[in-house]
Parts: sequence; C-alpha cells; structure tokens
Amino acid sequence: MARGRFNSKFAAVMAMAGSAVGLGNIWRFPYMVGEHGGAAFIIVYIACCLLVSLPIFFAESIIGKSTRTDTFGALETLAPKGRHVGYIAILASFIILSFYSVVGGWSFNYLIRSLGASFDGLGISEAKEVFASVGSSPVESVSCMLVFLGLTAMIVVAGVDKGIGRFSKISIPVLFVMVVIIAGVSLSLPGAEKGVEYLVRPDFGKLDGPAIAAALGQSFFSLSLGVGCILTYSSYMKEEDSVLQAGGWTALFDTLFAIIAGFAIMPAVFAAGIEPAAGPSLVFETLPVIFSRMGVVLPIIFFLAILIAALSSSISMLEVVVAWMVDRKGIARKYAVLIVFAAAAVLGGICATIPSVFGACDFISSNVLMMIGALGFALIVGWKMPREEVLSLVRSPFIYRLIRYVTPIMIIAIAVTNLL
Ligand code: TRP
Repeated sequence: MARGRFNSKFAAVMAMAGSAVGLGNIWRFPYMVGEHGGAAFIIVYIACCLLVSLPIFFAESIIGKSTRTDTFGALETLAPKGRHVGYIAILASFIILSFYSVVGGWSFNYLIRSLGASFDGLGISEAKEVFASVGSSPVESVSCMLVFLGLTAMIVVAGVDKGIGRFSKISIPVLFVMVVIIAGVSLSLPGAEKGVEYLVRPDFGKLDGPAIAAALGQSFFSLSLGVGCILTYSSYMKEEDSVLQAGGWTALFDTLFAIIAGFAIMPAVFAAGIEPAAGPSLVFETLPVIFSRMGVVLPIIFFLAILIAALSSSISMLEVVVAWMVDRKGIARKYAVLIVFAAAAVLGGICATIPSVFGACDFISSNVLMMIGALGFALIVGWKMPREEVLSLVRSPFIYRLIRYVTPIMIIAIAVTNLL
C-alpha cells in the first residue's frame, strides 16, 4: 500500500511546527521564564534547544526519513534488539494523546462559553468556580474531551497530506497571527510594562541547576521529542527536503511562538494586578477574566488559538499510533483511526474524571517513557547507523558528535533530575 506523503516542504514544516507549538508554549513557557530569571532563562533555553533538543530532533528525523516507516518498524529495521523502544514511544504517544485530549476538551468548552460571552463581567473567584465545575462534571468534561478527540480523528483520517498537511498549512499561520494580535492588545494595556519586565529582566543569579533542568525538560516537551511524532512526520517528507531545514524552522518557530505567547499573556496578567501562575489556572481562570474585560472578541480569539494549538499537537500523537497500525498491521487508515479513537476515549475518559490518573499519565509519559524513547533514538543514530548515512542527511560532523556524545548524557541527566 502506498504510504502517505507531505506534498510540499511547507506542509511538512507546518505540520512539525504544529506538533511542537501547543499547550507547553502557552501555559508553561511564559511562567517558567518569569520564575527562572527572564532573559537569562531565555538564553539558556535557546542554548538547550541548539545543543541538546535540536540534535535529538535531527536524530528522530534521520530515523524517519531514512527508513520511511512507522516508529516500531523503523527501530526494527535499524536496531532489531532495540525495537521494543518503538513500543514504548508509541505507548507514550497514546498516553499523552489521552490526557492532552482532556485539556483540549476544556479549550473547546471555553471556546463555546466565550462565544456565548459567558465570561463577561466575571471575577476571578467566580472564574475559579466555573473551572471547578467544568472539571468536576463528568458529563461535561467527558463530552468535550470526546469532541476534541473526534476533531483530531477527523483530521487524521483525511490522510497525511490532505488531512494533517492541509490543516497545518492553514491553521498554523492563522494561529501565529492570532497570538500576535493578542500580544498587541496585551502590550497596549496600562501597566503592561511590569509584565514585560517580568519576562525580560535578566537575572543570572536565578540560573541554578533546577532552572537549567527545567529549560531542558521544557525544550524536550515543546519540540515533541521522544515519542515518535517527529520520526513519523519525517517519514512522510519528500526525498529532496532537508532534515536540517525542517528541524531548524520548527525549533525557530516553536521558540518564537513561546516568546510571543509570553508577551500575549504576562503583560495582561500584570496590568490586571494579578500574580502570574502556570498551567490550567492561568489559562482557564485568570486569562478568561482578564481578556473578557477587553470585549467579547478577545476571549474568542484566545480560546480558538488554544484549541488550534492543541489540535495541531494531538494529531501528531494520534498519527504515531495510526502509522504503526497502517504500516505494521496492514489495517486501513480509517479503521486504525477508529480503533485508536475508541481506546483513547476510554483512557481520556478516566483521565477526565479521576485527577490522580491524569497526573500519573502526565508524569510517567513525560518523565519516563519520553526519556527512554529519546535516549533510544539518539543512541541508534549515534552508535548504530553508519556514520556516512547520518552525515549524508545532516552534513555536519559537529551535529553528529552532539547526537553521539552530548545528547545521551544530557537525557540521562534530565531524567535523573526529574525523578529525584
Ligand atoms: N509539543 C507540544 C506542546 O508544546 C505537545 C506535544 C505534541 C508533545 N507531541 C508531543 C509532547 C510528543 C511530548 C511528546 O504542547
């Protein structure tokens, strides 16, 4: 059966950027920057991207592009003894898809609420009550999760180029424009300077070990590494498209997006005189209140942006599992999507109703499974594949050495720091 393929370099890069740009950029990065020393943290973050995460990205991309198959099949071809790492990566993708869909469902829920102008005149404590009721109502959170997962499945079932590629080519540029608009409004508010200061004032004194580990972990999650998303998408790249360019553009876009998201969020938070937070409480409690003070349109743009960012990431997780079923098991794409949809609906439903399961899924996938996957990919490219083959794809002995020596050590270092 003919495999799917992205029909243009633009589609491939937008799909990878879509996978990378997600909730991680919006709800974790801005807060981390403020907590860990502003511009000083941004410099360390960029260094981590260039020296560790981007080489792992290249490693995944090299594996995908040279084997042209799914995550498990690729590892079976290159390193038969390490093929089980392929299962770990696919499992991680599936688990992340399940709990990510719960948050995607909240975004959908909040988009509908903002279309009904339901945050108009709301205070922070009322917003907290709204979020608590959304989270604690099984019917509401499960049904919204199913809608989000259903949208994800609809895009993936349409195929690699016609579904994922087309969705990404349109939605990622639109997403970028939306965040720039929000940043423009946010920066024009009286008192916005304090938010800008929070993001940029360099404080090198805050760059301790945990700050550096946080930067590394964040750059990993943000570039969707270790679970086969980049590997699978790269297996659909055109022969003449370069692995180096795709990775470079994706990392640039992802970092730029994270920084602009910071300028969209923090100036508004400070202008409202609120203490910044991270995670769900920032996106679903603080921001709806602040943005709805600026009219009914801004919350709509904001939640639509979050929904698109989440969808363009969730399709990459679903595609990892679907590609394995299509390439290895010979299952037709539409049935593969249906099977994974049903399975993720079950785990997502459990995550939506039992917070401790949600937390456990997040912890195991980001701290254990992703790390095993990333280490496996780096070791295979650095030590198992012929040097000439790797160099023919990355054309730089320096990058080859980073993949071979630096990344495995750094992956083990973050894994140990995170688990301690
Ligand atoms: N990178 C996305 C974000 O920042 C999330 C994501 C997509 C992801 N695919 C992934 C995270 C694979 C880890 C692994 O939100």
